[in-house]
Amino acid sequence: MKDRFLVSGGARLQGAVKVSGAKNSVLKLMAAALLAEGTTTLTNCPEILDVPLMGDVLRGLGCEVTIDGSTVTITTPAELDSDADFDAVRQFRASICVLGPLTSRCGRAVVALPGGDAIGSRPLDMHQSGLEKLGATTRISHGAVVVEADQLRGADISLDFPSVGATENILTAAVLAEGTTKLHNAAREPEIDDLCNMLIAMGARIQGGGTSTLIIEGVDRLHPTDYAVVGDRIVAGTWAYAAAMTQGDVTVGGIAPRHLHLALEKLKVAGADIETYENGFRVRMDRRPDAVDYQTLPFPGFPTDLQPMAIGIATIANGMSVITENVFESRFKFVYELQRLGANATVEGHHVVVHGIEQLSSTEVWSSDIRAGAGLVLAALVSDGETTIHDVYHIDRGYPHFVEKLQSLGADIRRVTE
Ligand code: UD1
Repeated sequence: MKDRFLVSGGARLQGAVKVSGAKNSVLKLMAAALLAEGTTTLTNCPEILDVPLMGDVLRGLGCEVTIDGSTVTITTPAELDSDADFDAVRQFRASICVLGPLTSRCGRAVVALPGGDAIGSRPLDMHQSGLEKLGATTRISHGAVVVEADQLRGADISLDFPSVGATENILTAAVLAEGTTKLHNAAREPEIDDLCNMLIAMGARIQGGGTSTLIIEGVDRLHPTDYAVVGDRIVAGTWAYAAAMTQGDVTVGGIAPRHLHLALEKLKVAGADIETYENGFRVRMDRRPDAVDYQTLPFPGFPTDLQPMAIGIATIANGMSVITENVFESRFKFVYELQRLGANATVEGHHVVVHGIEQLSSTEVWSSDIRAGAGLVLAALVSDGETTIHDVYHIDRGYPHFVEKLQSLGADIRRVTE
């Protein structure tokens, strides 16, 4: 837990990296394995801590889980326990995605409330109201959300906001409901499409995956399947911004470039040369980036998870950038760490105004969440001298083999373990 990174800035990143499966998909696909009795095998899973943590949650519900490198095998019994283990669930927010599958399979789900975190309060009202529309009752009791349903029935549901988590829980509850569900204003993130594709491979009837209207015709049962997790667009985007910031030349594999379309377009505006391939892209930059404005929005908008990278590149860009956060209310904490690195960045409500400077100046900084931590590493790569980044366990939760991959691209970074 006490590990830190020491980063000496100045290297131009050069070479090739491959991303593994998306953190924000694998956890939901593992939860979806609850929907079918038998053995589900997931490949291309990222080797990050949240995968074994989700394994613990599933074991607590009665599954057998084995993790062998990038392959996860889950054997789901006929009878599941409906109450998720409090301690296992509390360790990471994404465990809330067992709510839909458990309600489907058991007619009841008890899952500890995840609580707020460094990026915002993150309520569950849309998860609850969606499940209620399907005929469930929901309540908060002793720190957990409790969902009960004799029989889920298809319904017309409109989300106030295209929430990723609410879309997933409603989808995984509706696949085994009686009748047809229409989910309007659904999230369109590639990870939702990935979940739809796995559910379809399990026998679910879903139309509209990747669009804002999902039509789900309930079926009596699903069967287990073998499925490969979609590539991690946020990790791929982090490499793209690292390449551009360090005036490097990096080829990224294992990712469909359309999943990162706007993020790569923004880099082109900043002056990068981008080539795209069927399953990857190359970013080359041979000068100081130009300033670009960003607005985070649900997919296909600019991802909030790449907002720290957008602010990072703005800190060393030529000119002024305005970055607007529209998804999470308090995702700017890491700006204060950037200020300690000398960045000229000011938070104004949900905007950050950044006047680019030529080079940041090394010091000690603390990561507050996965993406902010990765953003600080990128900033350290363009600082003079050696920067110490503390609390890197956050980064380890989202970036498999980050230090080794950065080293392979020529970065001067090392992990110090106490
Ligand atoms: C997921 C991702 C996260 C990403 C986010 C947005 C995972 C594990 N995490 O989080 O990395 O940043 O999508 O792309 O996949 N909200 C409500 N009520 C609800 C649900 C959400 O008000 O019932 C609000 C949230 O507080 C937030 C916004 O809606 O302000 C978006 O949240 P959501 O899309 O649900 O994100 P997550 O699924 O939590």
